Amino acid sequence: MKVNSHIPVMLVETIDALSILSNGIYLDCTFGRGGHSKEILKLLDSEGRLIALDKDLDAINEGKKIKDKRFEIHHCAFSEMDKILKKKNIKKLDGILMDLGISSPQVDEAKRGFSFKSNAFLDMRMDQSKGITAAEVLNTYKEKDLVDILRNFGEEKFAKKIVKAIIKYRENEGPIKKTLELAELIKNTVPIKNSKKDPSTKTFQALRIYVNKEIEELENALPIAFKSLKPKGRLVVISFHSLEDRIVKNYTKLQMKTDFISKKIPIKLSEIKLAPFKIVQKMIIPNLEEIKQNPRSRSEKLRVIEKVMEAK
Ligand SMILES: C[S@@+](CC[C@H](N)C(=O)[O-])C[C@H]1O[C@@H](n2cnc3c(N)ncnc32)[C@H](O)[C@@H]1O
Repeated sequence: MKVNSHIPVMLVETIDALSILSNGIYLDCTFGRGGHSKEILKLLDSEGRLIALDKDLDAINEGKKIKDKRFEIHHCAFSEMDKILKKKNIKKLDGILMDLGISSPQVDEAKRGFSFKSNAFLDMRMDQSKGITAAEVLNTYKEKDLVDILRNFGEEKFAKKIVKAIIKYRENEGPIKKTLELAELIKNTVPIKNSKKDPSTKTFQALRIYVNKEIEELENALPIAFKSLKPKGRLVVISFHSLEDRIVKNYTKLQMKTDFISKKIPIKLSEIKLAPFKIVQKMIIPNLEEIKQNPRSRSEKLRVIEKVMEAK
């Protein structure tokens, strides 16, 4: 696969789930390399519109290559989607897509510092224009804070051991700057049993999630996304790891809670608090053929929620 390409995950299922209206207005919160966006555009007529967002400047540059009046792309975090919609005078949307996590070009481009397989500065920022790098976190944070990051965002059971080794390295050798420096340190610290996973996987995941505020972003964006949908509008979320999926699942559950009213109580239909959203489909996962062709899709989960009415 080329460094600048990304295979869109569950493309058919995602487009089906969005149930696209040809004259609808759609928002792709995570353009990446535009695999999903391009497919959405194919289904829109001349009145349809697609707004795309991404934090990553390389993704924005790719998006700018699409010359289509129905399409525009903006550089921002998706938690800021309402600002863009307001600026564009868009009141409500017919569908929103969030394909969470990092894109293949971000992992494959060594200099971005996301991968423990090639040597580069430990950057890990999706948005290259601002924010703290993974190296700054590793070299300036206190022991307890680093342990919390590795535990909360990587579910790393050797968090304490790894962080102790990081602190010792910082004191004796100086700052940890490179991906392979960190990977080597972890390999020498963690007992390796016959696991298929590289011992650095969880630490790198945790740092990436922390540096990019991925959990905060999702928690802040979900209510804004729900609010921005028209009735019958759909939100499709593809999550990359279980932490994200749990947030989507729990938030949806909360929205679906209705007052339980016994059939015996005489009450008007208008007085019953109905759930403003419904789950359209059960969670979808990639089929075996897709996983074979694109192993990176193996842990992705897709959820679809439809707005029934405005929340009271
Ligand atoms: C998995 S990729 C999306 C791939 C895309 N669907 C495609 O088919 O090419 C995720 C993209 O979302 C972007 N991203 C992740 N979190 C974001 C956020 N909070 N705000 C804006 N963009 C974000 C990343 O920079 C990355 O380009």
